[in-house]
Amino acid sequence: MKAALLGYGTVGKGADAVLKGSGVEVSRILARRPRPELGERLTLDMSDVLGDPDISVVAECIGGYEPAHGFLRASLEAGKSVVSSNKQMIARYLRELVSLARERGLSIAFSAAVGGGIPWLVNLVRTAGADRITGLGGVMNGTTNFILNAMQGGGGDFADALAEAQRLGFAEADPSADIDGIDVRAKISISADLAFDVFLDPETVPVLGIRHITAADVANFRELGLVCRLIGRADRTDSGAAVYAEPMLFGAGSAEQSLPGAMNLISLEAERAGRMSFSGPGAGMGPTGSSVALDILDISRGRSAFDAISCQNVIENDTDGVLHRYYARGFSKLPFEAESRTGDAVITGPVSVSAMHAAVSAALEAGDRPFAASLAGR
Ligand SMILES: NC(=O)c1ccc[n+]([C@@H]2O[C@H](COP(=O)([O-])OP(=O)(O)OC[C@H]3O[C@@H](n4cnc5c(N)ncnc54)[C@H](OP(=O)(O)O)[C@@H]3O)[C@@H](O)[C@H]2O)c1
Repeated sequence: MKAALLGYGTVGKGADAVLKGSGVEVSRILARRPRPELGERLTLDMSDVLGDPDISVVAECIGGYEPAHGFLRASLEAGKSVVSSNKQMIARYLRELVSLARERGLSIAFSAAVGGGIPWLVNLVRTAGADRITGLGGVMNGTTNFILNAMQGGGGDFADALAEAQRLGFAEADPSADIDGIDVRAKISISADLAFDVFLDPETVPVLGIRHITAADVANFRELGLVCRLIGRADRTDSGAAVYAEPMLFGAGSAEQSLPGAMNLISLEAERAGRMSFSGPGAGMGPTGSSVALDILDISRGRSAFDAISCQNVIENDTDGVLHRYYARGFSKLPFEAESRTGDAVITGPVSVSAMHAAVSAALEAGDRPFAASLAGR
């Protein structure tokens, strides 16, 4: 079987390497500049891919919304199955692309979009096929896990930990999508869509990042025996789902507390199967390239786990009913009672996710630099 890769950066190169000798031939690679190392396989023109009847799978490894989304639509319209590693684009266009694939009897798979090399989404879909998933979530962003571990270990400030992450290649030059939680928002949206076989607009997922965490916050957490992680969380509700992304504080004995470096740890809870966790490297050429290659191989063998999803039922996100105690600091006016104080921060009583996220937005608008993190299980 023949496949095409769109984009030849970290993920595209990784997938190409894994597919060598696999039985799937990467016969075309779309780039946007001359790349002599690709020889005859290189094209700068997408119509070479769309017009080649021998290519049956197209894997997009470009990133961003366009032209990635348009290329995948055009590939499906040309009768080719599609694979992607692009979480932002999949989170926004999942419903449309799955519908198009189903109409034409084609496959769409995107394992690498959440958890990098971890077989998270395929197992989520598999479990959802025979069980009722009630909730899921965890650490889905390696960059912020690295930064939080560096702050925890070295006692340094956020800016130092971010600079270290950038120096070692764990953070991009513009780290906003990672540190503001936008990356996690896309990943938890996609995970919720597959777990509940629905579609949720990712823009409706409330998100808090870690941009304003300080060394003093981390010292406070240490005093309390807690460690901060940036998490995504989705729970099934009577009316749909409660989905959000925010910093969360984990106590001793939890797997999240001791999660090293840039690792990911994602768990699901299902009525019959119980709680299952998946952990591993959430990014990088080898892990992510493998995920893309395995999606292509599964499609070539006619056994993609993603063939079971429909994701056509649009649901509302409602986090009013999810209550947490929060650690909160840096609010000139916090509209919640303090249950206790630690340093210059307070621990609130139970507050809804929607109310706390609204309070952070109001504080940001007032010019504060607020930081809030929920207390896991409390
Ligand atoms: N890196 C990871 O570990 C990882 C993990 C999970 C998911 N992802 C996702 O995978 C996707 C790709 O990430 P990446 O890290 O591989 O990015 P990358 O290293 O920047 O590679 C992207 C490649 O796409 C090429 N490209 C951009 N626009 C193009 C166009 N219009 N036509 C053809 N090629 C084009 C770029 O070309 P130039 O070389 O000319 O710039 C570059 O080679 C993103 O959606 C990312 O979020 C990445």
